[in-house]
Amino acid sequence: MEDFYIFALLTLFFSILFKLFKHKQESHKNLPPSPPSLPFIGHLHLLKEPLYQSLQALSEKYGPILLLRFGTRKVLVVTSPSAVEECFTTNDIVFANRPFTLTGRHLNYNNTTLGVASYGDLWRNLRRITTLPVFSNARLAMTSGIRQKEVKLFLNQLMKGHSCGSSKVELKSKFFELPFNILTMMIAGKRFYGENVDDEKEANQFRYLIREHVELAKPVNVGEFFPILHWLTYRKIERKMVGVMKKMDEFFQNLVDERRQKSSLTESYNMIDNLLLSQEKEPDFYTDEMIKGIILVLLIAGTESSSSTMEWTMSLLLNHPDVMKKVKAEIDIHVGQDHLLEEQELGKLNYLQNVINETLRLYPPGPLLLPHEASDDL
Ligand code: HEM
Ligand SMILES: *[C@@H]1O[C@H](CO)[C@@H](O)[C@H](O)[C@H]1NC(C)=O
Ligand SMILES: *[C@@H]1O[C@H](CO)[C@@H](O)[C@H](O)[C@H]1NC(C)=O
Ligand SMILES: *[C@@H]1O[C@H](CO)[C@@H](O)[C@H](O)[C@H]1NC(C)=O
Repeated sequence: MEDFYIFALLTLFFSILFKLFKHKQESHKNLPPSPPSLPFIGHLHLLKEPLYQSLQALSEKYGPILLLRFGTRKVLVVTSPSAVEECFTTNDIVFANRPFTLTGRHLNYNNTTLGVASYGDLWRNLRRITTLPVFSNARLAMTSGIRQKEVKLFLNQLMKGHSCGSSKVELKSKFFELPFNILTMMIAGKRFYGENVDDEKEANQFRYLIREHVELAKPVNVGEFFPILHWLTYRKIERKMVGVMKKMDEFFQNLVDERRQKSSLTESYNMIDNLLLSQEKEPDFYTDEMIKGIILVLLIAGTESSSSTMEWTMSLLLNHPDVMKKVKAEIDIHVGQDHLLEEQELGKLNYLQNVINETLRLYPPGPLLLPHEASDDL
C-alpha cells in the first residue's frame, strides 16, 4: 500500500511536470502505436492490477501490437493470433530470451530455472532434462497409475461422511491438494495430504509459500522498472523474496536429501531418484541446486494452474446444470457405471474436453505469457 502512495504521489508530481513543460513526443515512424507517455515513468500510470486487464484495454484502443514503457524498459504487448504466431513461430529464437528481473534473481535460483533462463546452453539442457523424466509421453504413460491412485484417494476423501443423501463439500482446498499430491508423488514419491501422511503441517506451510511466491513473482513489480522507486522499495521487496525463497529451498533440500538417504538408488518412477542417479555420474552438472530449481518450477507452474482450472470448471458446471447433465450423460455412455473414468478414456469424451477448453478460454490460469525478451531488433 505504501508503495502505491509513493507511486501515486510521484505520478501526480510528474503529471504536473508534464503539463508545465508540455513534453513533446518524438515521432518514430517505425515503432508500433503507443499511448502518450509521461517522462521517467513511461506508461506505468496506465497500469492497474490485474495487469492483463489494463493491457487488454490498451490493446483494444491502440491495436494488437502495442509499445509501452515500464519506467526504463520498453515493453511490446502482442495480442492478435497472427502477430503472436509471427513472434513465436517465425521469430521464436529472437523472442526466446527472458528478462532478468528480481523474480529471476531471488525467486528462481539466480536466474537458472526454466521459465526465467534465457535461450542458450542452460535452457537447452533444462528442457532436455525435464522432457525425458517428466514430460515425455512414455513417462506420462508410466506414471498414469500415480494419478489414478491419487484421484481415487481424493474421491474417497470427498465421500467420507457424505455417504447418505446430499451434503455440502468444500472443494477449493481439495483442488489444490490433488495436483500437489500428484506432482510430489511424481517428483519425490511422497504424498503430503490425505491418508497416511504426517507432513500435512509442512505442506500447509509450503502452500502458503507458493502463494507468496506467486504474489511476489508477478511480472510487474512497479518499483523494479523505475529507478527512484526501485531504490525506495527495492530492499523491502527483495528482503521478502529472499525470506520466502529460503524457506522454499529448505523444503526442496529436504525432499532431495530424503531420497538420497534411501540406501540404493535405482531407475524409478520418481524424478529426484533419476536426477540423483545422473548426479552420481555428472556431479558438476546435476547439482542439488539444479534439481531444486526443477522441483520449484514444476510445483509453482503445476499446482495453481491445475487447481484454478478445476475450480473454474466445477464452478461453471454447477452454474450450468444443463451442461453438467450432458457431461454426465457422455460419461455414462462411454465409460459406464462399473468403473471410474480412466485417463486413457479421456479421448472418447469430446464434450467434456470442449467444456475444459471453454473454461480455459473464459478463465485462463495464465492470461499472460511469462515475459520474453527480444535478443535482436526485427
Ligand atoms: C491449465 C494448466 C496450465 C496452463 C494454462 C499453463 C500455462 C503456461 C504458460 C502460459 C506458460 C508460459 C509460456 C511462455 O511464456 O513461454 C507456461 C510455462 C511453463 N509451464 Fe505451464 N501451464 C499449465 C500447467 C502446467 C503444468 C501442470 C506444469 C508442470 C507440471 C507446467 C510447467 C510449465 C513450465 C516448466 C513452464 C516454463 C517453460 C519454459 O520456460 O520453457 N505447466 N505454462
Ligand atoms: C540472467 O539473464 C539475463 C537476461 O537473459 C542475463 O543478461 C544475465 O546475464 C543472467 N544472469 C545470470 C546471473 O545468469
Ligand atoms: C547471481 O549470479 C551473479 C553472476 O554469476 C553473481 O554476481 C551474483 O552474486 C549472484 N546473486 C545471488 C543473489 O546469488
Ligand atoms: C481443445 O483445445 C486444444 C488446443 O487448442 C485442441 O487441440 C483440442 O482439439 C480441443 N478439443 C476439442 C474437443 O475441441
